[in-house]
Amino acid sequence: MHIRHLGTELEIDAPAKINLFLEVLGKRADGYHEIETLLVAVTVYDTVVFIPRSDGEIELACQWAGGFTARDNALRKDPSLGDQPIAGEIPVGRENLVWRAAMLLRERAGCHRGATIKLLKRIPAAAGLGGASSDAAATLVAANAAWQLGWTRERLAELAAELGSDVPFFLTRGAAVCRGRGECIEPLAPLRLHLVIVRPPIGLSTPRVYKECQPTAAPRGAGLLVTALTRGDPTGVARQLGNDLARPAAKLTSWIQRLQEEFERQGVLGYQMSGSGSSYFGLCRSARHSRRIAARLRSRRVGAVFCTTTAAAN
Ligand code: C5P
Repeated sequence: MHIRHLGTELEIDAPAKINLFLEVLGKRADGYHEIETLLVAVTVYDTVVFIPRSDGEIELACQWAGGFTARDNALRKDPSLGDQPIAGEIPVGRENLVWRAAMLLRERAGCHRGATIKLLKRIPAAAGLGGASSDAAATLVAANAAWQLGWTRERLAELAAELGSDVPFFLTRGAAVCRGRGECIEPLAPLRLHLVIVRPPIGLSTPRVYKECQPTAAPRGAGLLVTALTRGDPTGVARQLGNDLARPAAKLTSWIQRLQEEFERQGVLGYQMSGSGSSYFGLCRSARHSRRIAARLRSRRVGAVFCTTTAAAN
């Protein structure tokens, strides 16, 4: 997560993530699920602009890149995809996790400063790509710097976990095995993979997908995947992909099955759904290979297609 200082204004690029592995281990008494997941940040970014102000107000403005307002974009339709929004609706104002992140940090730090926060969205919503979580983590980092609070990353990570299970991951260097409900982080060394991500015209709600899932009877863990990643072996990585949420997600939309079939045809190294969906990704051999696959998928009219690589989140 790279901070740019422009006078008193701070700008941070907040990356998306994908789950290379996700196993549901059990249902907890607090309503969450115990999971083991392996997350990597990817080079699709939202931008958070943080402008401190002295009147104590916290104001948030959200906009999709390309000039669409947050709510307009939900209404924008692609006729070739049927009557569906393209990138999903983003909550504006106080419902947004960015606003809640700034408020929570300010309250816990006993700080009275305010901010105007501008959020420029490129990561599709309801996609399993962690956009809202990444924006919230970027806001914590920006506010900590702009308000000169001097909090450590460890302390920020505790607040991050209160905001959402995926938020602490975005304070790491961009690859980690995450356990508990997702907030217990074991960082991995950064790695390079070439990927194509598709967000179909339908988004999925995380709680709804989890509600449909059954914990796995025979967990295999992320160990073999970590070994393949450490060796820099993309074919080995492809063999170890897995996501227990794909089956429940496929009950909620036929797009999951459709994307599985689309990727199967493309000759990628491996493919699967990310997080609780609805995005799907394919693992490619090289940058050239991923550009070719992305072009083919665009012509198949399957939704928003991103040609991407893994990124350093921090
Ligand atoms: O933590 P977060 O607010 O992102 O979670 C959203 C919802 O997803 C939770 O309220 C819960 O229904 C579900 N969830 C879960 N188990 C997890 C993570 C999320 O059941 N490990």
